[in-house]
Amino acid sequence: MFITIEGPEGSGKSSVTEVVSKRLMQEGYEIVRTREPGGTPIAEQIREVILNKENTKMDKITEALLYAASRRQHLVEKVWPLSKEGKIVISDRFIDSSLAYQGVARGIGVDKVLAINEFATEGYFPDLTLLFDIEPEKGLARIAANKGREVNRLDLEKIEFHHMVRKAFLDLAKRFPERFVVLDASKSFEEVVEDCYAAIKSRLDK
Ligand code: TYD
Repeated sequence: MFITIEGPEGSGKSSVTEVVSKRLMQEGYEIVRTREPGGTPIAEQIREVILNKENTKMDKITEALLYAASRRQHLVEKVWPLSKEGKIVISDRFIDSSLAYQGVARGIGVDKVLAINEFATEGYFPDLTLLFDIEPEKGLARIAANKGREVNRLDLEKIEFHHMVRKAFLDLAKRFPERFVVLDASKSFEEVVEDCYAAIKSRLDK
């Protein structure tokens, strides 16, 4: 079982997933959490190049290819071996982030970005994708309040960019309804935890 967590900045996806994973592990499920870009040493090195604030000359197609390269390495070294062992792998971001950020917000086009990703992943898709949906203004306000979190290059994009990302994710949820579940991430932390838990649990019980 491969579960991916998607959503804009400040949607609380990482903290919610951490709590939900712990609860599921206490129930006996074997869960491994990971993240993109990154998740393995090689993929983390690619992440550093992508998110480095000094790389202002980064071309958008280069960026999309680097994300796809990092994704490939992460699958080969981590996701696929763990899945083979029967573990439930939960990844903070995956292919849909590339489709939303590079495909739509950066304007490359969803189908082009999908094509390079299908090459990178050999057509491997998540079994379940949880979209933490929230208005960009609310998400960014949460980031600003959370001073411990480092601000990366993409956080600095203007608000329209984040609106495009949000709409892109919602469109992807409509395009791939068999694997997407949309959560209202503007609710309280406790409520989102319950919704997230219920969505994963119902898929695990199937
Ligand atoms: P990160 O610090 O992990 O942010 P977050 O906590 O929001 O996940 O930075 C990841 C950034 O990379 C985030 O702004 C989204 C972006 N991203 C893409 O643009 N394309 C991708 O394919 C992925 C995986 C991430």
